[in-house]
Amino acid sequence: MNCRGDANVTPAAVAAIEFDAAQIAAAVSRLASEIIRDLRGEPVTLIGVLKGALFLTADLARALPPATDADIDFLVVSSYGEGNRSSGEVRLLKDASASIEGKNVVIVEDIVDNGLTLQYLQGLLGGRNPATLRSCVLLNKPYRRCVDVPLDYVGLTAPDTFIVGYGLDYQEKYRNLPYLARLHERVFE
Ligand code: PRP
Repeated sequence: MNCRGDANVTPAAVAAIEFDAAQIAAAVSRLASEIIRDLRGEPVTLIGVLKGALFLTADLARALPPATDADIDFLVVSSYGEGNRSSGEVRLLKDASASIEGKNVVIVEDIVDNGLTLQYLQGLLGGRNPATLRSCVLLNKPYRRCVDVPLDYVGLTAPDTFIVGYGLDYQEKYRNLPYLARLHERVFE
């Protein structure tokens, strides 16, 4: 063990690993293949939704064939606040930096739960006249969907429980976990 602790020890708060790093990598690879198939050789703009999609956006971009004409942008929204339930109020904390007019845009989201965040982003970005606007989500969590949002690319179906890791947080912690995990109930008490 070094001064930072044993790298193989899971945090005490983690109850179970729902998807390990290999399962996530396989899903990301498949998402990249599907995006490439639909682009038919045209350029693409990936817009990562921070903070949750920080790792997904980076891994997805690198899973595209190196010859892909791709650019990457980010925006920051927040809807969950500090708890483990979405507040239902989507706030744009930082907009993307470049025009998307005439571009093939893929919104890159870590998770879609009630759907309000993605619905908001599809409205916001759709109003900026992209050539195409598609949605790529690593985790589809369909159990409490309250709006009908089109998902063009879906990596995995989330369990009906609160999960963290690979960008997803609980009170800003656990984003750094290389897997997707369920926390012990006592963490939320
Ligand atoms: C999470 C997640 C999605 C959104 C999905 O973001 O990253 O953007 O919630 O929830 P919804 O479908 O119920 O709207 P959050 O607001 O927690 O911010 P974060 O990405 O900074 O963690």
